[in-house]
Amino acid sequence: MTSDTPAPPAEAVGCARLTYAFGDTKAVDGLDLAVAEGEVFGLLGPNGAGKTSALRCITTLLPVPAGMVRVYGHDVARERMAVRRLLGYVPQQLSADSGLTGRENVALFARVFDVPRRERAERVAQALAAVGLTDAADRLAGTYSGGMVRRLELAQALVSAPRLLILDEPTIGLDPIARTGVWDHINVVRAATGMTVLVTTHYMDEADQYCDRVGLMHRGRIRALGAPAELRRGLAESRGADTLPTLEDVFRDVAGSGLDSGGGFRDVRSTRRTAHRVG
Ligand SMILES: Nc1ncnc2c1ncn2[C@@H]1O[C@H](COP(=O)(O)OP(=O)(O)OP(=O)(O)O)[C@@H](O)[C@H]1O
Ligand SMILES: [Mg+2]
Repeated sequence: MTSDTPAPPAEAVGCARLTYAFGDTKAVDGLDLAVAEGEVFGLLGPNGAGKTSALRCITTLLPVPAGMVRVYGHDVARERMAVRRLLGYVPQQLSADSGLTGRENVALFARVFDVPRRERAERVAQALAAVGLTDAADRLAGTYSGGMVRRLELAQALVSAPRLLILDEPTIGLDPIARTGVWDHINVVRAATGMTVLVTTHYMDEADQYCDRVGLMHRGRIRALGAPAELRRGLAESRGADTLPTLEDVFRDVAGSGLDSGGGFRDVRSTRRTAHRVG
């Protein structure tokens, strides 16, 4: 048969037993993760779970041994530059340069990420427009509100048209309208380019609404994995509840007990590891 069947999506991010320690602190402790191309994957978990550390390993900002992390098939340890070229990254800490204008900040990223010189001005303007900053583009970023800085950082990450967008709490501190706006912009770009999104957030409503799948991370590894609705149904079944729990209930259940042995969770990889109890 000739193949009308589409090929299965490529793997955008693959972590195999990813481990990273700061001194004695194992921030990431045997993380297995597979994010498919085009997917919006939410990495959830309590403060200190290791989410930011994991993202920093994936973005090559923290050094890991070869064989632990691949981005579109490129090993982050062996092919650092190839990986970086595929990425847009919005870090948890605000990072825009307050002494540059919004436009200059985005232009800097366009240069660093090899946007062809001829296209740069237009791509910068498009990215600024996409996050609603056209009118403020020529003001110093130091005069922006916190929410405007966050949107500027999103424009920086999007200007290179990344195949993988990594966002560490992109909507923290944003008002409800701006939060929706950020997701709308992301989804417009996704629709146009098929970009993969790996995001962390503490807003369970956002994760529920916008993520295809979520992984609940606790103490350095994923303890529950699945589509938000699937995880919510799993908890309902294990509790025998009539009403469907929220994703926040699932979060409390996993982070509160720290266990992934509860009935119904679809944690495809770590069933053998449930003996590793937490707490
Ligand atoms: N630069 C660092 N030096 C030492 N320890 C660190 C460093 N960064 C993170 N850690 C430790 O690693 C662990 C995981 O931290 P990480 O920032 O990855 O968590 P997180 O899940 O992103 O939390 P949050 O939701 O608060 O952002 C924590 O115990 C933290 O104290
Ligand atoms: Mg973090």
